[in-house]
Amino acid sequence: MSFDTTWLDLREPADHAARSNDLLNSFAQRLPTSPKIIDLGSGTGSTMRAVSTVRSDVDWLLTDNDPVLLAEAKRRAPEVSTLKVDLAGDLAKALSGEVDAITASALIDLVSAAWLDELVRLARGRMIYIALSYDGHEDWSPSHPHDDEILSAFQMHQRGDKGFGPSLGPDAVGYFAKALKTAGYIVETAPSPWVLQPGPLMNALASGVAGAAMEAGVETKSAEEWARARQDSSGCSVGHIDLMAHIG
Ligand SMILES: C[S@@+](CC[C@H](N)C(=O)[O-])C[C@H]1O[C@@H](n2cnc3c(N)ncnc32)[C@H](O)[C@@H]1O
Repeated sequence: MSFDTTWLDLREPADHAARSNDLLNSFAQRLPTSPKIIDLGSGTGSTMRAVSTVRSDVDWLLTDNDPVLLAEAKRRAPEVSTLKVDLAGDLAKALSGEVDAITASALIDLVSAAWLDELVRLARGRMIYIALSYDGHEDWSPSHPHDDEILSAFQMHQRGDKGFGPSLGPDAVGYFAKALKTAGYIVETAPSPWVLQPGPLMNALASGVAGAAMEAGVETKSAEEWARARQDSSGCSVGHIDLMAHIG
């Protein structure tokens, strides 16, 4: 599974508009002065840019397994530190340094329950802010005869292995919140849906959903017909959840 700069740039304005400002502000207010934050699966640094709107004194460590995305992050913000790491196998290495908080966005719906358990263990009480995890809701207007078939195949694809073991997909936030509470965290969540109008992101999403549905077994003809029809959709919403967790 690859995430290129073009796709991440296309989604970033929608991501920033969708983020819960309440959770972002609550996270920012709880940080100490000049905090050190590690961002997991940073891509080109979308979470860094979102947090920078409310805190400019952060010492960032951006982590990803894609050196092209990390190089782009560094080009855009030369002051940040970057670490190329496979978070599926080396989460402990990534989290071994001294940091005040752990962030991620559009990541934990790709991971397994075992990986989230490990993240809770390795977080060792540090603050956590995880934004834009897919929650399984996707509504397109107007409706189309293939919607149910395509969207249920897409959900099945979401639960496939993305390199971290079987993905929790839409169940990730609920699972993570429960595990954090068991570990003594106070957890806050808030919805952060994309509400998309016709345009390049909506078209790219339609192609991506149709492609995933085909990989999950939908006939090419049905998926292509759906994707073509969706280029004329009047709108689409995709559910996400943001999560912030802290001790005490
Ligand atoms: C959906 S993108 C989100 C990127 C960024 N957080 C954002 O919101 O724009 C998921 C990111 O996780 C990274 N990733 C996926 N698997 C990884 C792994 N095993 N180790 C480290 N990073 C990984 C990808 O390279 C990509 O940058």
